[in-house]
Amino acid sequence: MPFEKISHHMTTPFIAPSILSADFARLADAVQQIEAAGADWVHIDVMDGHFVPNLTVGPPMVEALRKVTALPLDVHLMMTNPDDFIPEFAKAGADILTVHVETCPHLHRTVQTIKEHKMKAGVSLNPATSLTTLEHILGDVDLVLVMSVNPGFGGQKFIHSALEKIRRIRTMITASTGSPYLEVDGGITAHNAASVLQAGADVLVAGSAIFGSSNMSDAIRQLRTAGQTVIV
Ligand code: DX5
Ligand code: ZN
Repeated sequence: MPFEKISHHMTTPFIAPSILSADFARLADAVQQIEAAGADWVHIDVMDGHFVPNLTVGPPMVEALRKVTALPLDVHLMMTNPDDFIPEFAKAGADILTVHVETCPHLHRTVQTIKEHKMKAGVSLNPATSLTTLEHILGDVDLVLVMSVNPGFGGQKFIHSALEKIRRIRTMITASTGSPYLEVDGGITAHNAASVLQAGADVLVAGSAIFGSSNMSDAIRQLRTAGQTVIV
């Protein structure tokens, strides 16, 4: 399992292409293409038709994709009852399991259960969810996922107020004892990636910006280097 890729503190951001924007009839090809193009993680969006108005994939797809890539599988659960599926996602081969704080009344227990199943634990916030929901869990998590669109669909427009939220969460992380990844998801493009990285993100999810590009290597490289200042 490629755990070393998700345990060291990075100096360059990680790029996690979301296969939601790939051809669902050819997901194995899509994963292998992004791996060859330099992706760091594979972002898999699980949607239940309740928490979000869309349906996608579940543990069988995670299990199938586990067999075709060495990249960490970054599984984003957009479902009302994630607790019921933690063992199944672990068995399927998920490396990172992220739940939404809006769906977890016993978030501390949920995070501990994910870790007991030997996965990295992530917590995600919808655009209108206050960052105070992180206050008493930040020291326990491996990843915070800030949604910069309302979850449910790829190809939506980046919500600008996410930038201030990212900055404030980065400040919270700096002041905390842990060092979770700060991942941002939704509407990320080569145009706004610099702002997102400068605000404090260290993992960028991108669906349409990568799968909609004619050259995935270039698209990934552009996102990864967007935060660098070019001196001429
Ligand atoms: C939205 C998903 C995202 C989505 C991102 O509900 O969580 O991961 O696939 O797609 P883009 O980058 O197109 O906004
Ligand atoms: Zn996602």
